[in-house]
Amino acid sequence: MKIEWRSKYQIGIEAIDNQHKYFLELISRINEQLYLSPDAETIKRFMNELIKYAEFHFCSEENIMYFEKYPGLKIHHNLHSEILTQLHERMIFSDIALDLESMKLLVQFLIDWFSKHTIEEDKAFADFLKNKEV
Ligand SMILES: [Fe+2]
Repeated sequence: MKIEWRSKYQIGIEAIDNQHKYFLELISRINEQLYLSPDAETIKRFMNELIKYAEFHFCSEENIMYFEKYPGLKIHHNLHSEILTQLHERMIFSDIALDLESMKLLVQFLIDWFSKHTIEEDKAFADFLKNKEV
């Protein structure tokens, strides 16, 4: 099942929106694989790619915040670190035993996290930028 991009995810900063679209595509790819022909090695490889992309994306987003002197940067950085720690921990568990149901839960967790983080936290930065320009 493909996970579609929704307009509510759009924060209005092109560089970040483009990365978010790709991030969602990576989640979607895992989701589709899980419902098609899930094999542990493929899922693990896709998850590793997603984690590495998340690391890049967070770094990129935080750099934009840094250069814009965003006062919420530190808190935002902590939120990014938190999710990365959680993903790494879950991948260690999945090394021991990758079961399909827990992977489906992990994908759902990722979708929920992405949606909430983008709409609330990243949008707050976009609002800050907008007010700064006025
Ligand atoms: Fe973020």
